[in-house]
Amino acid sequence: MPSAVPQSVVAQLTRAAIFLVVTVNPGEENGDTVRALCGDLAALLRAVGFRDLEGRLSCVTAFGSDAWDRLFGTPKPKDLHPFREIRGRHHAVATPGDILFHIRATRMDLCFELATQIMSRLGGAVTVADEVHGFSYFDDRDLIGFVDGTENPLGQAAIDATLIGEEDAAFAGGSYVIVQKYLHDVEGWNALAIEEQEKIIGRTKLSDIELDDAVKPTCAHNALTTIVENGEQLEIVRDNMPFGDVGKGEFGTYFIGYARSPRRIELMLENMFVGRPPGNYDRLLDFSRAVTGTLFFVPSVTMLEDVAARQAVPLAARPAAAEALKPEDEPKPKQRPADGSLGIGSLKERDST
Ligand code: HEM
Repeated sequence: MPSAVPQSVVAQLTRAAIFLVVTVNPGEENGDTVRALCGDLAALLRAVGFRDLEGRLSCVTAFGSDAWDRLFGTPKPKDLHPFREIRGRHHAVATPGDILFHIRATRMDLCFELATQIMSRLGGAVTVADEVHGFSYFDDRDLIGFVDGTENPLGQAAIDATLIGEEDAAFAGGSYVIVQKYLHDVEGWNALAIEEQEKIIGRTKLSDIELDDAVKPTCAHNALTTIVENGEQLEIVRDNMPFGDVGKGEFGTYFIGYARSPRRIELMLENMFVGRPPGNYDRLLDFSRAVTGTLFFVPSVTMLEDVAARQAVPLAARPAAAEALKPEDEPKPKQRPADGSLGIGSLKERDST
């Protein structure tokens, strides 16, 4: 069986990004519009990206749990569920989102053009839930002044951290992604001594060197987000971006984390918001408030093209959505490959945590 081609989840860090989260409006025709776009995304990306190949334009398209039920039905990626809010010392909110477009390039104009093309195709089929334009800030620092992204896995390690393998073979080459938009209390943060800030993050500010375990608190951000199970570190790939609006006094970090299982990101969030042990929470959250939170599944490119050929999902195939729909919304049956799969191949074997 041919291997599924993954989307560019593991793209090199870039200078500009647009994070576009939309909800699909009710009505069967709106689902049709979205499915039709799925098949044309690769061509749109090629067309816009070709205008400056050095601009390294990329786009990851991902779907929320409810949208998956509605647009594609079963089978469903085994760990796809709505984002679970966390109420600990701080609150990780869950907010709506059916589709995420994570658009990256070295130039904002490329990102902007692709977002425009995508939205002109989607038209009235969707409502924008959130749109953030992120920029690279000096040495890849976030707006609280620390270099962000240093400990990201690279190369094969990044692929192993993010791409689903045999653990969910029908969805091999796919990935999960969690996004959260954070707003910083920059004034409060800047009132802290640099040494205090460094203990909160777990690295030095200017030189970006990890603090020695002898001085690093157990509640440091990089301690709480380090998860080791059976002697193995469970890694994720992040591509956080600063954003802001000076006039409104808005200074933020858009967190985006990719992984082959959402569980490892959820564990990190639990450690940050509740604490490890409970109460030993991430002090970064005293100065950074999560205002969005959504979980999506990233199908492989192969699957994205495959789903475009499908028709709407029969009500019987989406139990959760069945009660919510009126009889006149009953969609047409969908076509599946004869083997009952989604018609994609598998990647090499990996575990699923
Ligand atoms: C306000 C939002 C956030 C900011 C400003 C922030 C910033 C940072 C900084 C400065 C570092 C150290 C440099 C690096 O290795 O990248 C870091 C590390 C890290 N962050 Fe965050 N982060 C945020 C949210 C999150 C969230 C929500 C998660 C996961 C759910 C997360 C996961 C990680 C991980 C896994 C590391 C690397 C830990 C290590 O292996 O050393 N971060 N973050």
